Amino acid sequence: MTTAYDAVTARIADPIVDIILVGDSVGNVCLGFDNTLPVSMAMMNHHLEAVARTKPRALLVADMPFLSFHLSPEETIRNAGGFLQRGADAVKLEGGAKRAEIVRALVDCEIPVMGHLGLTPQSVNVMGGFKVQGRNADNALRLLDDAHCLQEAGCFALVLEGIPAELAARATNSLTIPTIGIGAGPSCSGQVLVFHDVLGLTESHRPKFVRTYVEGFLLLQEALSRWAADVRTGTFPTPQESYRLPEGLSDAIAN
Ligand code: KIV
Ligand code: NA
Repeated sequence: MTTAYDAVTARIADPIVDIILVGDSVGNVCLGFDNTLPVSMAMMNHHLEAVARTKPRALLVADMPFLSFHLSPEETIRNAGGFLQRGADAVKLEGGAKRAEIVRALVDCEIPVMGHLGLTPQSVNVMGGFKVQGRNADNALRLLDDAHCLQEAGCFALVLEGIPAELAARATNSLTIPTIGIGAGPSCSGQVLVFHDVLGLTESHRPKFVRTYVEGFLLLQEALSRWAADVRTGTFPTPQESYRLPEGLSDAIAN
């Protein structure tokens, strides 16, 4: 699974991956926010619509942003159902046992739900930062309980983010639904990374669980700078890169 936020990223990713996630990471990756909390339903719908227009063959999952699934079942169902009406196949939401009831309500409305446990970025303020979760006995056992609650509630898969590899392995082995890991070691059923992290398009510090396969930011910037240099030296555009008037008409406009 990887993320896509627009038609270009969706077209690049679609032939490669099984699942495309329109993540609320769009907030920090594309929109310049420091975290995902300012991301709204309007922003998510805008990006989902762009991805959905490419009609991906991959399963298309849309991320429920902060406050879009907290206020009431009615509002949550309307938000999630709106994602499906815009072309998503499923929604994802963060949180454990306390979200089981709303997960059940969504599944009852025929809306498939992917869960998300561990270092859930929407909880940054209660976690006291982006910190690995499940590192003491209490938290590890709570995560396993949360995973089983979400499975019971009807989630079809779980993202496990930022937890020790052994804990992710234990969760994966004890669940019947697949797990998709990010910073959760090699034993998950699948893996997810943010598109811009894999391709080196994120400028800032990348966490240790990211493997970058191309320094895309520098590669693209270097190519752009060659074009700018060609413009400044007058070697772009050439006659071959320009349109011409029909024979005789250049004289006509000269007068
Ligand atoms: O928003 C996102 O990109 C995510 C994935 C990293 C799982 O939630
Ligand atoms: Na997310």
